[in-house]
Amino acid sequence: MRKPLVVGNWKMNLDLEEARRLILDIRLGLVNIDEDIEVVVCPPFIYLSMVNYQLPSHIKLGAQDVFWEIKGAYTGEISPRQLKDIGCDYVICGHSERRIHLKETNEMIASKVQISLKEGLTPILCLGETKEERDKELTKKVIEGQLEMGLKDVKIDEVKKVVLAYEPVWAIGSGLPATGDNVNEIVKFIREVIGKQYDSLTKDKIRILYGGSVDVKTIDDFVRQPEIDGVLVGGASLKANDFINIVKHTLKITKEKSK
Ligand code: PGA
Repeated sequence: MRKPLVVGNWKMNLDLEEARRLILDIRLGLVNIDEDIEVVVCPPFIYLSMVNYQLPSHIKLGAQDVFWEIKGAYTGEISPRQLKDIGCDYVICGHSERRIHLKETNEMIASKVQISLKEGLTPILCLGETKEERDKELTKKVIEGQLEMGLKDVKIDEVKKVVLAYEPVWAIGSGLPATGDNVNEIVKFIREVIGKQYDSLTKDKIRILYGGSVDVKTIDDFVRQPEIDGVLVGGASLKANDFINIVKHTLKITKEKSK
């Protein structure tokens, strides 16, 4: 059984006081959540330390990005070792907003995934097609390429630690999520590619999330799907109650699924 995972990506939102309030409310709302689910919050870099200080041990800290070197003259960048040192266990790699606005390439993302694993961070590798690619029926081809290149230096003994997130670009922040059935089919395809790239044990073990306009209304449709192991939540993770309900619902449905 794969452990479900809910990740909140706060992106470039909130001021210091709002971030402090949010983490305190999440902490209160999830005080009794059991260990059958993993919960991760990814605040902006500058709040990592403050959030870590407020986090109970059962909620994990993640960063939204990382650089591909351990240290050196890279003005403005943050290294995986620094993230680990400040309390991070997870790091998002290759989010489509970075691929688009910062022109991150699959090669850059592959280096980030590789060094994160080396430094003991769990990379959450984001994959997904744009609307144009989808309209041209290129979804599977694009994802296959992102997977092959993003994981190119990851050996079989390490890949089980990686989390994948299928996030169609057209669904992110649009209020128009994909449908559960549709995502399930793509996630199944991602598992097949992983099976080919590695082996069938890895295919069954690797955790794959869905992300893109997930909220309290749509969560059910995704977590009921057999192939989907959790969600990466943007906008709805900024509202404590919504995030808490998404976590609780994911746990409830995962337990039902495993019966
Ligand atoms: P969204 O963002 O939930 O606001 O669509 C998801 C993401 O970008 O990870």
